[in-house]
Amino acid sequence: MRILLLGAPASGKGTQAARIAERFGIPAISTGDIFRTNIRNGTALGMKAKSFMDRGELVPDGLVIDIALDRLGGEDCAKGFILDGFPRTPEQANALDEHLAEKGAALDGALLIDTPESELISRITGRRTCEKCGAGYHVANIPPAREGICDVCGGGLSQRDDDSAETAMKRIGVYNSQTAPLIEHYRARGALLRVDGAKSPDRVFADILEALAR
Ligand code: AP5
Repeated sequence: MRILLLGAPASGKGTQAARIAERFGIPAISTGDIFRTNIRNGTALGMKAKSFMDRGELVPDGLVIDIALDRLGGEDCAKGFILDGFPRTPEQANALDEHLAEKGAALDGALLIDTPESELISRITGRRTCEKCGAGYHVANIPPAREGICDVCGGGLSQRDDDSAETAMKRIGVYNSQTAPLIEHYRARGALLRVDGAKSPDRVFADILEALAR
């Protein structure tokens, strides 16, 4: 199973990637998470990526492509993978196409989580993430049992640096201009699947399983 998730910031890609990964026993690979780990660890890559992420801009292709393709070469990806947040530009999509063609591997689907723009800002500003295990919550939509505490591991919940309303607006604009054209890229290859991201997380997941089965 090799799939990638397309969708605007906060459309629900990370939430669904975790569920798909658990169901199929394949890794969920988020380029955003790779950069955030590098930022936490103070690496040179993290420092370079941070300046773009804080402004709500895309990290340049030259920094992203090698890292993403290198991660796909990991042993745990042999059975498949879910890409969350890569590719995000035509250059990244072409690099992924070439990488898969070299390996004689095909993509099983590019799954668009289609969430109305009116939902996105409140999802972004309400998002909380566990600092210890990375589990995701939303203060209103998916609240933890105890405010500020992760249900899974008891870690503290925090807000991402780029989750302010102002940066969110910028990220949505960047998605519309630079990433949304990829919907056509995958539609033209007959790989595009679409689910309605406005439904509840359980409903979206059920629709994803149905779309993948088709
Ligand atoms: P990244 O981390 O990939 O962020 P993003 O694409 O903006 O997506 P998000 O993580 O914001 O949202 P999501 O769709 O995963 O939604 P989630 O499930 O969390 O990228 C961050 C930055 O890194 C980029 O801006 C860029 O700078 C850089 N970057 C990363 N990859 C790059 C690349 N390939 N090229 C260049 N730069 C790159 O859900 C959001 C909230 O809503 C949560 O609180 C969740 O609990 C809630 N929620 C989820 N589903 C539902 C639902 N169905 N109903 C109600 N609430 C829901």
